[in-house]
Amino acid sequence: MPKPPARALAAIVMAAGESKRFKTKTPKVLHDLAGRPLIAHVLSALKPLRLTKAVVVTGRGANQVEATIKDVTFARQEKQLGTADAARTGDEALGDFQGDVLVLPGDTPLVTTKTLRVLIAYHRNQKAAATILTAKLDYPTGYGRIVRTNNDVDKIVEQTDATEQQRQIKEVNGGIYVFDRAALRSALTKVERANKQKEFYLTDVIAILKEKGEKVLAKAAPDPIEILGINDRAQLALVAKLLRQRTNATLMRNGVTIVDPDFTYIDPTVKVGPDTVIHPPTFLHGATRIGEGCEIGPGARITDSRIDDGATVIFSVLDNARVGAQAQVGPYAYLRPGARLAKNAKVGTFVEVKASEVGEGSKVPHLSYIGDTVIGRDVNVGAATVTVNYDPETKIKAKTVIHDGAKIGSDTMLIAPVKVGKRAVTGAGSVVTKDVPAETVVVGNPARPLRKRKKPKGDG
Ligand code: UD1
Ligand code: CA
Repeated sequence: MPKPPARALAAIVMAAGESKRFKTKTPKVLHDLAGRPLIAHVLSALKPLRLTKAVVVTGRGANQVEATIKDVTFARQEKQLGTADAARTGDEALGDFQGDVLVLPGDTPLVTTKTLRVLIAYHRNQKAAATILTAKLDYPTGYGRIVRTNNDVDKIVEQTDATEQQRQIKEVNGGIYVFDRAALRSALTKVERANKQKEFYLTDVIAILKEKGEKVLAKAAPDPIEILGINDRAQLALVAKLLRQRTNATLMRNGVTIVDPDFTYIDPTVKVGPDTVIHPPTFLHGATRIGEGCEIGPGARITDSRIDDGATVIFSVLDNARVGAQAQVGPYAYLRPGARLAKNAKVGTFVEVKASEVGEGSKVPHLSYIGDTVIGRDVNVGAATVTVNYDPETKIKAKTVIHDGAKIGSDTMLIAPVKVGKRAVTGAGSVVTKDVPAETVVVGNPARPLRKRKKPKGDG
């Protein structure tokens, strides 16, 4: 027998609200949570669901929201008349779509793809008109309560409209639903503003569908934190903490040692290999990828960087940097965008590197600035060396090239553009204004050739 055609799925994300309780100029859904706007977490949970269409309803701060997020259709809610009006606005943007619609708020960032899949599968298997994602909370204050008769869902009552008895109910509305689109559409036309806040409540759709004799179900989230909404900044801090705990727990289960998870701040987008040890306090952000067997921290802040197997990063800040296998960074190094360390390289104490390569086995151990530079293999850069890459008159940033096996003496100023040849040596305190030939020792200010370099022992 041929399988029935799979039902299509669309989503409406409601993000037009006033954010009154947040007291903010920036729309609430754009506030940062673990390196991304709140709403980006919701959208990334939706992404694997292969939606026919994802509609984001915007209103308050619409321009800002629409400029920040991508790959969705926007629908503007002119006035913030309530969640039913938001859902209706989103529904209009679905055109002639047929199938199921996920409706969810933009301020519930802990919901997972897995839970949404379970919710959708349950809704479809049971052929329900609406299925609500719920949770039992010890402190249900602020959430809509699920009112049941016998075991069946009857309706949802909002905190402000609930009786004292209904407020005792611990089963709450997660604000996340799957609807049969046609059922949702017709129910939305019947919602009224007969409540304390004089808003159109999406939650009223539940009672409307029940009265029509439609099937309405509730499914509990496997972990109640998934439905936590962020209405104010205290809830933002709480959700951020829970998200951190979840991210750290996942990494630890996958073989990462986190010495003190309470002081380790890792965005969920970061990847870390097994047998890596992370010491507190450490901050790992964005698209950072860390290999196996690395030692990170104490005191690391690493953003959008790649660290290969066996590398160490101690008391350092890395931004858009690459660190090769077994390389060492810090203590107290600053790797700025475009810093690339090959394997076994070292960038040590009070060294800043920007848009530069440090070749295999090369070392910049102390007190240096390296910018717009290519350093070959097995180079040693002495303490307090500076690549003088910037001419304030022409505003040109010039390049420095240091070839394999060169030895840069302490306190050398390399006035770029300049090249230091293979196995060349600069004396301590030299100011290098001209290219240094290979195998040559230069000294002084401006640096001039002194002699040829001695052959290394055992080199024939
Ligand atoms: C809502 C639910 C409540 C549920 C809770 C879960 C209603 C009436 N109540 O309450 O039952 O327990 O979520 O988190 O739905 N929005 C718009 N346009 C509007 C109003 C709101 O887009 O006119 C958006 C908001 O930006 C927000 C979402 O809808 O992302 C939910 O609105 P919010 O005011 O936060 O509802 P809650 O009071 O949390
Ligand atoms: Ca909310």
